[in-house]
Amino acid sequence: MKNKICIITGAGGGIGTAIAEALFSCGCKLVLMGRNEEKLKKVANDRECLIVPGDLCNDAYIKETIEKTVAKYGGIDVLINNAGIAQSKAFTEISMEEYDAIMNTNARAPFLMCKTALPYLEKSSCGTIINIASVTAHHGYALQSVYAASKHALLGFSKALSKEYYQKGVRVHVISPGAVFTDMVKISRPDLTGEGMLLPENIAETVLYLIKMRNTASVADEIQLHRETKEPFM
Ligand SMILES: NC(=O)c1ccc[n+]([C@@H]2O[C@H](COP(=O)([O-])OP(=O)(O)OC[C@H]3O[C@@H](n4cnc5c(N)ncnc54)[C@H](OP(=O)(O)O)[C@@H]3O)[C@@H](O)[C@H]2O)c1
Repeated sequence: MKNKICIITGAGGGIGTAIAEALFSCGCKLVLMGRNEEKLKKVANDRECLIVPGDLCNDAYIKETIEKTVAKYGGIDVLINNAGIAQSKAFTEISMEEYDAIMNTNARAPFLMCKTALPYLEKSSCGTIINIASVTAHHGYALQSVYAASKHALLGFSKALSKEYYQKGVRVHVISPGAVFTDMVKISRPDLTGEGMLLPENIAETVLYLIKMRNTASVADEIQLHRETKEPFM
């Protein structure tokens, strides 16, 4: 893991921050992406890394970040598409602006991140993409129609991309968590109290597990994580 060059989107909070902490502790060279520069600086906490603030819905930001990463570190080993937004709203009340914002952040941005980073990931000896989807990539929940559509799109895209790049040495994984206690869930599911929920650290540990598996002959395409209180294999 030491010195692996890893890009994390949405590193300024929740799951992204936990992933950054885990990768920092392994000695990785990190690129922290997110809209809020102050939050990213707080995560970096004066540790050596590259902070690139910006909005993933801006194509130029994605291109600029990849260029800055390669200029500073000379390549890319791991891309973690973690940033996302959610919503809890009745279907008839969702505006097309909200639809575009969710689809652009959760599905289009990871697509373009992969597209822009792949030439460098292909040159890495351990090129790895980890897309953070959701349980909603498999199930449709009421009041989450756009979010579910965006995560189904991310999962479908990941499946196709993994097949396209497997023989070229780049692995594409998906982690699909149930409810994780972060700001997102506090806003989109105010009914959940945090009790018995997944923690951001649980997702970060899964990221480490997937990256470390590059040294073995076993591959986990997707890892689904759910709350202990939920039925298994739902
Ligand atoms: N929490 C859950 O229950 C849960 C369950 C399953 C899957 N997930 C997925 O896990 C991922 C992380 O979620 P989280 O719970 O950690 O949410 P979070 O605490 O709200 O963090 C989301 C991060 O994404 C960033 N982000 C959002 N839109 C962006 C944009 N347009 N450009 C750049 N960055 C943007 C945010 O940046 P700013 O700080 O600048 O706003 C923030 O750092 C998401 O993809 C989410 O769908 C979450």
